[in-house]
Amino acid sequence: MDAAAWDERYAAEELVWSRGPNRFVAEQLAELPPGRALDLAGGEGRNAIWLAQRGWDVELVEFSQEALDKAAALAASADVQLELTLADLTASPTLRPADLVVVAYLQLPRAPTRAVLRQAASLVGPGGTLLLVAHARRNLDDGVGGPADPEVLRTLDEVVDDLSGTGVTVDVASEVLRPVTTEDGERHAIDLLVRARRTSG
Ligand SMILES: C[S@@+](CC[C@H](N)C(=O)[O-])C[C@H]1O[C@@H](n2cnc3c(N)ncnc32)[C@H](O)[C@@H]1O
Repeated sequence: MDAAAWDERYAAEELVWSRGPNRFVAEQLAELPPGRALDLAGGEGRNAIWLAQRGWDVELVEFSQEALDKAAALAASADVQLELTLADLTASPTLRPADLVVVAYLQLPRAPTRAVLRQAASLVGPGGTLLLVAHARRNLDDGVGGPADPEVLRTLDEVVDDLSGTGVTVDVASEVLRPVTTEDGERHAIDLLVRARRTSG
């Protein structure tokens, strides 16, 4: 989906994603001391706002102006400030390093995903953390919801390989289950969770 398609999707619904943070973002980052955070492809800001509420200075980067407008309104109603940047991540925008870089549910084909993840890793400052959450390719057969296009779904091996040679150390790389309420009751979506940190400069 290009920026215009995402704009259309964001304009069509009051809230496309949840009001609160993604559960894995919250679980992984609740104990991290605040600093500067980058939320790449941050959508309507559910994770950025949660981080800002915990004292982080957050820059949310998006190529959908509609998403940024919604993030601005939601941040204002939550009484927090976000730095909002309109940029296409596949064009390698110039961004300042951060203590935390979050990439949640970016849905791009393999080559641009690899480029964005490598840039995300390069933006993690010394001692900083990179958190990636993504839809697993296995979700297509064994999970529920999520994109139906296998091109934009990843495997753990792909994500870990994409980060190789970027200078970050991967501490967590696992498939995780996200409960989803469906007409047939509670089912699970299969996500990928990768957490890495930069130990060297
Ligand atoms: C599934 S949403 C996830 C939003 C947010 N990370 C969250 O978890 O709530 C994917 C987001 O990626 C954004 N996006 C996709 N391709 C992008 C690109 N090339 N540059 C910047 N943002 C992009 C879309 O506009 C969309 O908001």
